[in-house]
Amino acid sequence: IARSRHDYQAPAFTIKTMQLSFNLHSTATRVTAVMQVNRETPGAALQLDGQHLTLIAITLDGRKLSAEHYQLSADGLVLPEVPDSFELCIETEIAPQHNTALEGLYMAGNTYCTQCEAEGFRRIMFFPDRPDVLCQYTVTIKADAKTYPYLLSNGNKISDHIDELGLRTVQWHDPFPKPCYLFALVAGDFDLVTDNFITQSGRDVRLELFVDKGAAAKGDFALQALKRAMRWDEQRFNLEYDLDIYMVVAVDFFNMGAMENKGLNIFNSKYVLADAASATDRDYFNIESIIGHEYFHNWTGNRVTCRDWFQLSLKEGLTVFRDQEFSADMGSATLSRIDAVKLIRSAQFAEDASPMAHPIRPEQVLEMNNFYTVTVYDKGAEVIRMLQTLLGRQLFASGLTLYLKRHDGQAATCDDFIRAMQDASGYDLTQFALWYSQSGTPVLTVKQQYDADTKQLSLTLRQETAATADQATKQALLLPIAVELLFADNSRQKQLFCLTDAEQQFVLPDVATEPVVVWLEHFSAPVKLHCQATTEDLLQIAAQASDGVARWDAMQQYWSRQITAVMQGAAVQTVITAELVALLKQWLELPAADLALTAELLTLPDFDTLAEQHDEIPVDAILSALSSIKMFLAQQLREAFLQCLHNLPQPAYRYQQQDVAIRRLRHLCLSYMAQLAEYDVVLQQHYQQADNMTDTIAVLMATQQAGSALFPQLRDDFCQRWQHDALVMDKAFALVATDPADTVFAGIAAMQQHRQFSWKNPNRVRALFSAFSMRNPQQFHRLDGAGYRLLLEAITKLDPINPQVSARLVTPLLSWRRFDKTRQQLMLDALQLLAAQSNLSNDLFEKVSRSLP
Ligand code: ARG
Ligand code: ZN
Repeated sequence: IARSRHDYQAPAFTIKTMQLSFNLHSTATRVTAVMQVNRETPGAALQLDGQHLTLIAITLDGRKLSAEHYQLSADGLVLPEVPDSFELCIETEIAPQHNTALEGLYMAGNTYCTQCEAEGFRRIMFFPDRPDVLCQYTVTIKADAKTYPYLLSNGNKISDHIDELGLRTVQWHDPFPKPCYLFALVAGDFDLVTDNFITQSGRDVRLELFVDKGAAAKGDFALQALKRAMRWDEQRFNLEYDLDIYMVVAVDFFNMGAMENKGLNIFNSKYVLADAASATDRDYFNIESIIGHEYFHNWTGNRVTCRDWFQLSLKEGLTVFRDQEFSADMGSATLSRIDAVKLIRSAQFAEDASPMAHPIRPEQVLEMNNFYTVTVYDKGAEVIRMLQTLLGRQLFASGLTLYLKRHDGQAATCDDFIRAMQDASGYDLTQFALWYSQSGTPVLTVKQQYDADTKQLSLTLRQETAATADQATKQALLLPIAVELLFADNSRQKQLFCLTDAEQQFVLPDVATEPVVVWLEHFSAPVKLHCQATTEDLLQIAAQASDGVARWDAMQQYWSRQITAVMQGAAVQTVITAELVALLKQWLELPAADLALTAELLTLPDFDTLAEQHDEIPVDAILSALSSIKMFLAQQLREAFLQCLHNLPQPAYRYQQQDVAIRRLRHLCLSYMAQLAEYDVVLQQHYQQADNMTDTIAVLMATQQAGSALFPQLRDDFCQRWQHDALVMDKAFALVATDPADTVFAGIAAMQQHRQFSWKNPNRVRALFSAFSMRNPQQFHRLDGAGYRLLLEAITKLDPINPQVSARLVTPLLSWRRFDKTRQQLMLDALQLLAAQSNLSNDLFEKVSRSLP
């Protein structure tokens, strides 16, 4: 049964302290909880959540309860008659080894670890598993000292001893009351990398990073990133760390990226381990940003948490915004913004147009894990960013300070956040708050009119949000529209408009000549823009706008138009004009200030971004237009790419902004050059000479996308070389799965037999199947349905093992309505076969049932 946001009721019982003990055993772990319980709602029965638990015993104020005093079901425990205030002791047994859902206490290889967000704690102990019940934890862990040298939980270690039999007992105490979703436990053997951080007020915090044995050197970057994040949050938001120790553990089996458990973050090892030989620039970027993200949660998430799960964006949207700002300050602000915009325009726009459409604060939830979405996270971050744009950095920071001060130690709501922002800034945010309740992507249509006599420039802005699957009627939103006017004499002027109505006109007086208007600088609002700019205007913006994101955006619009023209039958050589080719040559020749931006300007929009520009996605036309334009550009610029390649320095690998930019441009050149067989030698050389993973992967992807005859041989060499490294093999699996060639099915079948592949490991499954369904449109959308069937089989196999991951895999099928009749039917067939299966997980059921007619 789905829950609604409006059904919220304050907890009937609170629990102030909890002593939790674990006697670890892979198939029979004993868990004991001693809780101090208080009734808040007179007459209420005590209801505790609990799933997949074996109940051993319940004691109330020291008296053992017999079965007639409680009701046990598959979802929990009810004690109808309890005193107003009492001590409750419950003992349960669980089997971490059999926990393949990776929720609650499970085994990642030989390591015991937990994942409790959103509702995993109920798989450990009977408890009110909701984020507004905060209590103080004291945790005792017992395990064999030799096999498990490290026994970790939240907070500070208060005791540690080993008995004569070699059984170790460690106790932890976390002074900060927390909801159970932030509880964590880890037991295992690791390499430990340590450091320390002196906070701005002078406290010395011990930093501990736990990684697989032998991987210590690969942990260094993450640890340094953590220190940068700690410093950054002090400097930007005056937020300081609050415990004496901060631990990060990398595990090999993890459903998501990482988890911000108080004082004990648990990470997917993919987002911790890095060295030049095995990680790409993209991996380094992700590690820094996720390390930052989880650290920033300590304030926005942990010190102030969510009242209920409908409020998830309160912590996630805000924390993504914070990690984006951190990344922008650590590396290239333009590049990190471009990455964020790409994600919104592809995945988020697609979600808003799908049966799973929801506002950043959802209204209806069946399975909470289904709402850790690009909408809640990334559109949520866009909403926070718009607030900062509207209020300005300073007032925004004051608002955040007020919010954290007012709600420290509490479980808050999105409304609380808005109220704090409003109180600190004096702005009326009533209309702005609609962003929390309205789903869908606004379409912004802009018109400009210049009157040479009156010297007036009129800008007409119109917004419209189409109905979404979850919501029929839409209202006008408050949209901050950042604009730059480019004048013929090279002067420029900036302006921020606040669109509040469905249609509004802004008139600028005393405008000497008609300017070219740069709309939505820095993507100031998450909308689809329709504007009348000519192709000349777009090229001028691409060359001259002061915001790098706007320059990139103009080129994206430019490419989209040319791609559309080709899709409608225009010949490529008439669409890609000689003037354009000359301009691109110029960009490649000049040692531009920002090499990475040059690479982005020359990168065509990806399939998903283009798809979102159509109601019915013309799969074949998009793919064929993309490939013919790419080939034509490769031919027209063949010398320019080679020359650019020669001109670029090739410094020894360091993850450093300038070097990342050089590599980005070099790889752009290679991706075009791979189209031409004459450059096989160059590509081969690059592959052989590469001394870092970024360069290696670039050649592999370039040759793969170009359908180059080189690819199979390079790929096999790569698989051979890295067969012992699971994280690198994920890259190999993805290379096999994203191959646009027909042989992809045989390749995926073979990889399922690879010794590194396992259905139980989410990274492996995603590397093969998410890569295939999300990044191989050519083969996934085949007209014979083989792509859909492959995904269907994978989901069917995975659902009983790991519902969270299987429900994520189904996403591309949900959008069946967006395709032509043939594909619609094939996708629908797949969904109906899923729906017909018995024992479908809640996760999958919610998505499949929402998508069926
Ligand atoms: N709070 C985690 C993060 O930073 C995400 C964990 C969600 N896990 C889940 N199984 N739903 O962003
Ligand atoms: Zn988060």
